[in-house]
Amino acid sequence: MVGMKSWLVGWAAAAALVPLTLLTVSAEEQIGYPADYKSEFTNYLSLDRTQNEGQIIRLFANQKALEAARTGVALPDGSIIVGEIYKAKLNKDGKPQVSSLGRQVRDKLALIAVMEKRPGFGKDLPAELQNDGWDFAAFKPDGSRAKKDLDSCRACHAPLNDSQHLFSLEHLQ
Ligand code: HEC
Repeated sequence: MVGMKSWLVGWAAAAALVPLTLLTVSAEEQIGYPADYKSEFTNYLSLDRTQNEGQIIRLFANQKALEAARTGVALPDGSIIVGEIYKAKLNKDGKPQVSSLGRQVRDKLALIAVMEKRPGFGKDLPAELQNDGWDFAAFKPDGSRAKKDLDSCRACHAPLNDSQHLFSLEHLQ
């Protein structure tokens, strides 16, 4: 009976592992939350978003990306860029409040947008969604995944062939 019991336990454990393994495989293809960006990355630019009124973005790059940009070479695999997107404070009329510097003022952190370059990233996507090895992810302020249509990210950044699919390449230094 003991043998039967342990066989059953073993079978149950193996059955439980199957979906876990599947989950792990698909998760590996996605970009994870870069938990250390606040301490390890450099905040290279902060601005009122150029295409989204009422939002402010703070941009961070990891050391790999920065060093390559400073040297003037292509950003290597392992480069990560983080965009913290904040809502702007609104005035009584519901319009973004403008500071004496003529800039919007940060309110709550709304989304953390991430780009990461890895070998083969995006290779199975249609050509108009490919970004030369860069791919995209979006997270809530607590680090959990935000539900965003990543194809819209890919489509808007894909045409930027001259700046390695980054809007802010010239600021990366
Ligand atoms: C309609 C065009 C558009 C879409 C869609 C878009 N972006 Fe961007 N992205 C921009 C622009 C423009 C900037 C430059 C900063 C700014 O004005 O917000 C930018 C900047 C960035 C940056 C900083 C690096 C760089 O390119 O300068 C990251 C990271 C980023 N976006 C990730 C994302 C993610 C993730 C998504 C999807 C959830 C996304 N973007 C969707 C236009 C877009």
